[in-house]
Amino acid sequence: MISKETIDKVFSVIRVEEIIGEYVQLKRAGSNFKGLSPFQDEKTPSFVVSPSKQIWKDFSTGKGGTAISFLMEIENFTYPEALRHAAKKYGIEIEETQAEQTEEQKAAQTEQDLLYKIHEVANNFFQEQMYDTEEGQNIGLAYFRERELREDIIRKFQLGYSPEQKNAFTAYALEKGYSKDILEKSGLSIFPENSSNGIDRFRERVIFPIHSFSGRVLGFGARILKNNVKTAKYLNSPETGIYHKSSVLYGLNQSKQSISRNNLCLLVEGYMDVIALHQAGIENVVSSSGTSLTTEQIKLIKRLTENVTILFDGDAAGIKASFRSIDMLLSEGMNIRVLLFPDGDDPDSFSRKHPQEFVENYIKNEATDFIDFKAEILLKEAGGDPIKKAEAIRDIVKSVAFVTNALKREVYLKEVSSKFGLSEQSLFNELGVQKQIAQQNQRSEAPKPQPKLEVVGETVFAVNPLIVLEEKLVELMLKYGDHVLTRSDHENQPYQITVIEEILAHFDEDGYEIQSPVNEKIISEIKSGIESDELRAGKFFLTLMDEEVSDRVADALLEPYENSDWSKHNIFFSKEQELVPKIIEDVIIRHKREFTVKMINDLKDTLKAEADNTETYMKILRLNQLKNEIDEALHRIL
Ligand code: GTP
Ligand code: MN
Repeated sequence: MISKETIDKVFSVIRVEEIIGEYVQLKRAGSNFKGLSPFQDEKTPSFVVSPSKQIWKDFSTGKGGTAISFLMEIENFTYPEALRHAAKKYGIEIEETQAEQTEEQKAAQTEQDLLYKIHEVANNFFQEQMYDTEEGQNIGLAYFRERELREDIIRKFQLGYSPEQKNAFTAYALEKGYSKDILEKSGLSIFPENSSNGIDRFRERVIFPIHSFSGRVLGFGARILKNNVKTAKYLNSPETGIYHKSSVLYGLNQSKQSISRNNLCLLVEGYMDVIALHQAGIENVVSSSGTSLTTEQIKLIKRLTENVTILFDGDAAGIKASFRSIDMLLSEGMNIRVLLFPDGDDPDSFSRKHPQEFVENYIKNEATDFIDFKAEILLKEAGGDPIKKAEAIRDIVKSVAFVTNALKREVYLKEVSSKFGLSEQSLFNELGVQKQIAQQNQRSEAPKPQPKLEVVGETVFAVNPLIVLEEKLVELMLKYGDHVLTRSDHENQPYQITVIEEILAHFDEDGYEIQSPVNEKIISEIKSGIESDELRAGKFFLTLMDEEVSDRVADALLEPYENSDWSKHNIFFSKEQELVPKIIEDVIIRHKREFTVKMINDLKDTLKAEADNTETYMKILRLNQLKNEIDEALHRIL
């Protein structure tokens, strides 16, 4: 048990913002820090850390507490584990109170704990073998020296060596009292059926321990020493109770602070690439260890930054295969740049050839946006073939469809349009198609529990047409706000009015209440714009920081006319703009109708509760009459 004095010391020394800062990118917000919740996907930061109070609160999940409770939440630590972890970080010595561990308590230690333990033991063993044995120095350490690694770097990554002897580690661990069962479950030993002795999985290889986000050893990668041997170059730990390949990134533990500080994560292919870049002073780098990126891995990066630069070997055959990873990064809302090293170089060899500053500048200046990169590769492939070229463009637009932020999507589309000399309109149409495909795929893969209102317009329409029409009106204001309409008054005198004024006047009629909060926000911005004599239509809102609003605006500006539901009213004009006055008239009338229906229903609800309800009846009658008039007007329009 940890002594009370130690616990007090831990709590008085640790800083909540420092501990959380390793997991969450925190930005100052007044006297507090703010960041994205590490417990839930979110776009707007709702995770708050107070340095003065030494507490945190995650408003998206309702969780909160001290630095220690944060560690317990995020690492699934027990209370003593979290205390030990924090103590280690701050160099506080743990004082144990004497409490004899009973057999029962020992047995209660979970298998997970044992797996963590045996990996720690193995990690120390491999390092001791390398530094303290002749074989280790002559073969293991010599190998790393040959690859020009400095000793501080070898130690930083806790590299090691597994000797030639068949069961060096297995014998050592058995001797220390670890069971066959746990050795087998850890993947470190193999016990063949008709043999009484176990053998080591890793033999005569250099060892790369794979750490968790917080620095626990989860498994190992092990490299053969010669390049021309027939066996696999790298041997890795199998999936175990603590090692899940798909949710681990090599180097994340050593790189997380630099990633967060630089607000950028470099993604490389190999163990050695991560290590070599660290040696070159570039420390914001991780590797997915030769496999394509998974969503879990992306989420790990996203805790620290949304910016990823993928570093490819010059001769990488896997570049095209990486396009899938890129699409996945995009659909997680990441910003992606891509960097190709000169032929024959990988980050490891390149960083050893050039001085640090040169490498840094190379990464900074030569990284290109993924669109340019993908376009270049696909177009080169298509050559002069127009069909292949069209396919290439479709493929690129497909990637754009994965971009989650509507604003960014628009920017990308503009870029593609100018790059290939294509009209934005035709790209918009293609994007609409690809977005539908992407959404369908998403739906079939993982059904979302709560579909967003805007996404499934049709479904919502059946439920609440009032909101759908309100959304349409707001969209029309955003899109055509400053268009001037020519209308005629009661005496048939023509007058001019802007789209914004007409729709606002409609909303102000009859005490209509805006139904959706986002619409309310947009409308109040528009109103204050009018008061200060500047008309506020779409473009203005693009500069607003509010993500929800700018998303809506960009969606409105992006929506291609062909894909909107107007065509189902069988109104076809040659130009979208000729339609505007008619569309607005139509939507206003429909909206008014639905609002009337709502008022009638509300009144019907109050009817029963009232003793004398004559007045309410009269109101309902008048409203019904109004509804019928509107229906007639609608018939005329259609
Ligand atoms: P060297 O520079 O050759 O030491 O390796 P590297 O770290 O640069 O790796 P390389 O670019 O050759 O491969 C990228 C990554 O793919 C490696 O770090 C490994 O994680 C993985 N990998 C490579 N070869 C093998 C293999 O034979 N088996 C397995 N399972 N993984 C491998
Ligand atoms: Mn390499």
